[in-house]
Amino acid sequence: MADHGAAGRLSAPPDEDPIVLEQKRAAARAAVEMIRAGMRVGLGTGSTFAHLLPLIAELDFHRGLRCAATSPATEAAAISLGLRVEPLDSLGELDIAVDGADQVDPRTWVVKGGGGAHTREKIVAAAATRFVVIVSADKVVEHIEPPVPVELVPFGVEHTLATLSPAQLREGCVSPDGGLLGDYLGPVGDPRTLAGRLSATAGLVEHGLFPPEMVSEVLIGEQGGVRRQEGAKA
Ligand code: 5RP
Repeated sequence: MADHGAAGRLSAPPDEDPIVLEQKRAAARAAVEMIRAGMRVGLGTGSTFAHLLPLIAELDFHRGLRCAATSPATEAAAISLGLRVEPLDSLGELDIAVDGADQVDPRTWVVKGGGGAHTREKIVAAAATRFVVIVSADKVVEHIEPPVPVELVPFGVEHTLATLSPAQLREGCVSPDGGLLGDYLGPVGDPRTLAGRLSATAGLVEHGLFPPEMVSEVLIGEQGGVRRQEGAKA
């Protein structure tokens, strides 16, 4: 499980298991194969995505890519590697977006937001023709479990938390859009029912449950290779 820390972090824990590290790298290597010259590319956030960024920057045609970033940390890293980052709204529809995840279930429900960037990540994923998720094998779960990340409007946040209960804020974590970052900690059950309930909660900006219809493909780094799991998005 990713550490639920500051918004938009790109780094992995210093004591990361070398097997997990290699699985993240393998998934990133598989994803870079999907990037073509001239594409408009959505850049994700997190330590798995951080392995992909330099691979994109090494592509011969990287200067012709037009990228939108899901977090200030990714934007800064991408620019420092020579990638062209533009506001999402100047790019129209993206050809592809690639991002990490905290959990992936067999039906391709995905949980994101361990790094607190799930609101922008969901907007970028929705703006992309293809949304590709890259994960190490430890992110694969039989059933989605709490925590499910949430971003909340600061006004009346105690009421919103009481409605969501059990839920808690991540101390000092604020999104780049001014939302308070936290986690829903109650039972998940059917992810679609929970996603509907969370979306209908007043004061909740966005939650980290991504339905299969938002996901084109998951690239799972496993020992011995990369396994592909199809989502329900073309
Ligand atoms: C950030 C995210 C990340 O993609 C997710 O938390 C996975 O991070 P990592 O690759 O570091 O485990 O959703 O909001």
